[in-house]
Amino acid sequence: RAIFEDRANSTGPNIEIESQWLPFSEAVTGFSQQQWLGRPYLNGQAVDGLPGHSIQAPHDHRITVGEVQFANAELVNQAIEVAAEGFQRWNETPVKMRADALRKLADLLEDNLAELCAICHMEAGKTIQDAIDEVREAVDFCRYYANQAEHHCARPISLSQLQGGQRLWQRQGRGVFVCISPWNFPLAIFLGQVTAALAAGNSVIAKPAEQTSLIASKAAELIYAAGVPGNAFTLLPGDGATVGAPLTRDPRIAGVAFTGSTETAQLINRSLAQRDSDPVPFIAETGGQNAMIVDSTALPEQVIKDAVLSGFASAGQRCSALRILCVQEDIAERIIELLKGAMAEQVVGDPRLHSTDVGPVIDREAQAGLLEHIEKMKSSAHLIAQTPLPADCDQGTFVPPTAFEIRSIDELGREQFGPIIHLLRYKASQLNNLIDQINATGYGLTLGIHSRNERTASQIEARVRVGNCYINRNQIGAAVGVQPFGGQGLSGTGPKAGGPHYLMRYTQLTPVQEMR
Ligand code: SER
Repeated sequence: RAIFEDRANSTGPNIEIESQWLPFSEAVTGFSQQQWLGRPYLNGQAVDGLPGHSIQAPHDHRITVGEVQFANAELVNQAIEVAAEGFQRWNETPVKMRADALRKLADLLEDNLAELCAICHMEAGKTIQDAIDEVREAVDFCRYYANQAEHHCARPISLSQLQGGQRLWQRQGRGVFVCISPWNFPLAIFLGQVTAALAAGNSVIAKPAEQTSLIASKAAELIYAAGVPGNAFTLLPGDGATVGAPLTRDPRIAGVAFTGSTETAQLINRSLAQRDSDPVPFIAETGGQNAMIVDSTALPEQVIKDAVLSGFASAGQRCSALRILCVQEDIAERIIELLKGAMAEQVVGDPRLHSTDVGPVIDREAQAGLLEHIEKMKSSAHLIAQTPLPADCDQGTFVPPTAFEIRSIDELGREQFGPIIHLLRYKASQLNNLIDQINATGYGLTLGIHSRNERTASQIEARVRVGNCYINRNQIGAAVGVQPFGGQGLSGTGPKAGGPHYLMRYTQLTPVQEMR
């Protein structure tokens, strides 16, 4: 069984051969027994003495993974003062030194691969493949944004003036950037935002998702160890009301990067708009109601492999994940038959085991919402298949991979962030209408196309409004530097993460010298 798929474009760590696997596996197992502490980090130091609460492993709530102490209002205010003070010096630090600190961070992530994977398993319920990919993507972000900063920010840009002569412009940081990251990529997206903001010269206040503060705390230690000054980076674990809301209301902040739900992005957008101070950039990556369109020329076995991976990998907890599998009616019965077979083979369970395909969902609230949706759909739609849960899953927050057949996209309502696929048959003559319905959801993140007819694939690609379109492959796991990732409409503002324009939104262009 090939566990570690090759990602040719990744610079991050890979475990390719058996001799690497055994010591790695033993190290992860060793780390999995330990407990971690999550705390705010201010001025390069952990802040102690705040009330703590314990964190349970999503796959087995009897296991305590560690304790987290959340920031309070006083600390939020202090953090803004510290970051405002730290900005000038960091922004004036030569770009090469900033980039080198991020490259050092990439090396430290690689050195700590086993521990970081263990935290991914125990705190976020990530499988082996997902945990390694998580660290790999974080490493890629560090190196990519370091290179991008050197490319865009290290040298002034020379522009001709109307009156003749030239003027030099320099890309600079904007000030204090607030980075609010999600639990589903607790290291990769967390560091993607933070390293982009730091590379561009901003000081950063990072608020990780409440559910995944342990890995963010470990990352904070590595950020400082890599040479980022204490007042250029602050970590504030905490809840949205105590930490996120006051940060986004504060007139001293110069920008916000957010990845999470569309509803929270809309709240932040309103909060920023209501500030009685300068308008600032807001970078939001949110959810999707992602479809895969399969026409009658597609290869059924390939469709199933890609649909199962896109819908059920990471327990469906990716904003890119497949939610609506649209199948041309001529091959629908065949696809349904194969899907049933593939779902019977899926293994749900302990994310630390090689045999596991689908781990737990993040917490009880997520589990309850998904199970409620499944119950509701059972009464209104046709259940195609449901992968059974093993008996020992009852100690954790598991949701069985489930597939329904629906008659219309309107039956779906809001995005369901879990391992649930909704299959919809369509007639070839309705293809344009189907694409219009997908567009009408208002989301626009990923779309999969399975077709061996190039004209059909191009027709779909031209009409659909999404950020990332994948043809004859799965639709998850965008690779940094080669598949810039991000959506449009309800799915986010752009610019795309891991793409050549991402850093720009974190910078401002300042005139530095007049030449006549
Ligand atoms: N970037 C991830 C993916 O492409 C989703 O957040 O799957």
